[in-house]
Amino acid sequence: MMPKRVFITGAAKRIGADLVYRLSRDGYDIVLHYGVSQSEAQGIQKTLEAQGRSCVLVQGDLTNSEDVHNLVQAVRAVGPLNLMIHNASLFVPDTLATVTWQGLQDHLAVNAMAPLMLMQGLWEQTDHIVTILDAHTHLHHQDFLSYTLGKHLLERLTVDLAPVLSPKTRINGIALGPTLKGVRESEGHFQAVVDQSNLKKATSVDDVYAALMALHQSPAITGEIINMDGGYATQMRL
Ligand SMILES: NC(=O)c1ccc[n+]([C@@H]2O[C@H](COP(=O)([O-])OP(=O)(O)OC[C@H]3O[C@@H](n4cnc5c(N)ncnc54)[C@H](OP(=O)(O)O)[C@@H]3O)[C@@H](O)[C@H]2O)c1
Repeated sequence: MMPKRVFITGAAKRIGADLVYRLSRDGYDIVLHYGVSQSEAQGIQKTLEAQGRSCVLVQGDLTNSEDVHNLVQAVRAVGPLNLMIHNASLFVPDTLATVTWQGLQDHLAVNAMAPLMLMQGLWEQTDHIVTILDAHTHLHHQDFLSYTLGKHLLERLTVDLAPVLSPKTRINGIALGPTLKGVRESEGHFQAVVDQSNLKKATSVDDVYAALMALHQSPAITGEIINMDGGYATQMRL
């Protein structure tokens, strides 16, 4: 039987790393992309290989077009993919008053341009693409302006590319609510955001994984986005 293989970006830490462990447990060979978190990526590789599992590391700065091109070549060389997950994200606050050309460019590159170029280079050898989105980008985030714009583009691509990639490849998205406290965020602020959702519940990585597998195991679904956000999205539709 052909091994199942997943390529996931920005997966050396946090949500991406947690997804990697679950995917590996469920029989996926891992192609793990990282940017600067080399020691964390190597730590995951060591752990998985000790369990007899496969984990190939690929490095690249997603703001750098040459790195993204090289990444495509490196992943192509590994072989066909059952699943490609666009998880990497740049999440730095900025506002109308503070946004800079460079900051905007970096956010658009990591959150939308690199995913698009990776899809261009890899979709023909990929069964299913999943984008990790952010349900809160519909709250008109004025304090994460560039991040929000990047995620809006990635969301747009998730829908618009579905007919383009069909029938070979499916593409779907999962829009998360608060899941892991941001590196610059206080516990109190994280909890306050959770409390604003209908369910008053943070999203867990188990929730994300369940949605990922539900989408992946549903061959009739493409161009769909699941809001996994405790009901925030329903508030936006009021
Ligand atoms: N955390 C939440 O509660 C939450 C809520 C809503 C949506 N999300 C979405 O869920 C996903 C995972 O969230 P997270 O909080 O775990 O993500 P994160 O820690 O903010 O970022 C994940 C990884 O992205 C990589 N990355 C950033 N800039 C890069 C660059 N220039 N080149 C290469 N890699 C780069 C980093 O890899 P290196 O460290 O290796 O450079 C980083 O570890 C993201 O798409 C995020 O937008 C998360």
